[in-house]
Amino acid sequence: MVEAVTVTNPIFSISINNYKVKNSMPSFFFQTFGCQMNVADSDDLQRMLEARGFSNCNGIENADLIVVNTCSVRENAEQKAKARIYEFSRLKKKSAALWVVGCMAQRLGAALKDEIPGVDLVIGAKEIDSMGMILDQYFPRQNALHTTLLKKSEISDFLAVMRGCNNYCAYCIVPYVRGSEKSIPVKMIEEAIKRRVSEGIKEINLLGQNVNSYNDEGVDFADLLRKISSIDGLERIRFTTSHPKDCSEKLIKTIAEIPKICKHLHLPFQAGSDRILKLMNRRYSSSQYRSLIEMTRKHIPDADITTDIIVGFPSETDDEFRETLNLVKEVRFTTAFMFAYSVREGTRAAEMADDVPGEIKLARLKELIEQQTAITRAIYDDFVGRELQMLVSGRQEKREKLWMGMDQGCKRLLLSCENAEAGMIFKVRAVKSSGMTLICERI
Ligand code: SAH
Ligand code: SF4
Ligand code: F3S
Repeated sequence: MVEAVTVTNPIFSISINNYKVKNSMPSFFFQTFGCQMNVADSDDLQRMLEARGFSNCNGIENADLIVVNTCSVRENAEQKAKARIYEFSRLKKKSAALWVVGCMAQRLGAALKDEIPGVDLVIGAKEIDSMGMILDQYFPRQNALHTTLLKKSEISDFLAVMRGCNNYCAYCIVPYVRGSEKSIPVKMIEEAIKRRVSEGIKEINLLGQNVNSYNDEGVDFADLLRKISSIDGLERIRFTTSHPKDCSEKLIKTIAEIPKICKHLHLPFQAGSDRILKLMNRRYSSSQYRSLIEMTRKHIPDADITTDIIVGFPSETDDEFRETLNLVKEVRFTTAFMFAYSVREGTRAAEMADDVPGEIKLARLKELIEQQTAITRAIYDDFVGRELQMLVSGRQEKREKLWMGMDQGCKRLLLSCENAEAGMIFKVRAVKSSGMTLICERI
């Protein structure tokens, strides 16, 4: 049963219902959109709810609390989230509370409650640090009884080491919805990792919108990697996203030197034309980007380098788009996330004319994806016959004896094996490529 009390949300100054779930075993249901940062935030929120007596519930129909964690990065990300919120407001049981959190919640605030009836509470991404306090208002923390629920069975986990972004790339909404850069203190990161390792995780994925600009009182990102690499029981360290302008040789040498650090860099370049890069406010040129790739491959010859690319930024010509295609061909990214430019209200690019017609944006995107897919396939094919180190993440659902995992870069592996278990690390040999996975056997 739910009891409604009116309180004032300090950020949006709106009246909300203070729900007290009287159910003895209340349950939550989460739907998360957007990047890994949102996944990490949802995980944190779930842990906090579990500590308050909640359990995870697989179907929305029975949930007492439904949380939709939203993304604002492109128009269609918001449309998808809104469609889902509408659907949940129809499907949920009457007494259930529906919360919208994250980046779209930050951007639209209380207006979301007016737009979609049935939304009870809107909590923006900037409030994520105060989430514990917000939850305490609604669901008082229970005794230590529930700490066992905090244990997760996964072998890999995300951890935000910095939040926010100061870069203000002209197209991007993230600095507005996530606020300015803040690094989490080293001590807290070390404690969080040690706790998760004691719960069984083998791999940590350090997150930040701009993770390599991490700085905690002089400890930079390379220093942080070195420090956490000495944690016993932690087998692998991954991180994302790196900004090319903050990628130092010290960082690349640290990755090369320490075996636990995965040989994978996600280095978005966005566009191949210097004029577009300048309009985007990316603060590097295409030749600086090429030098960075050269330096990385000098120290880590087999590094998997991945990227993000935008096509159809305001005023992008066909020739400028060809420069993007050329850079993709030269660098040979293992994989890439490719997007058509989408206007975000309030950003600097929104003041420019969105003058590349929709069908041209889509044609460029299609051409780019085709080119990149062929490169990805060629890279996977090239690895057939090579020895790799595989961290087993779990079983393939349909085929019992097939195990999934990743190499030390970011290549997906499948292993046929009788006696495996998630969390094991094997030496394997790639015997076959599907163009996006490598089938392996144990050595
Ligand atoms: N902090 C990361 C991720 C930002 S969002 C970074 O700096 O790379 C992820 C990707 O979405 C961006 O790299 C960019 O390629 C894309 N993106 C951001 N805003 C966009 C927009 N308005 N239209 C299309 N793609 C966008
Ligand atoms: Fe957005 Fe640029 Fe910041 Fe990435 S670095 S989050 S693209 S503003
Ligand atoms: Fe989207 Fe927010 Fe991530 S806008 S990409 S969920 S930081």
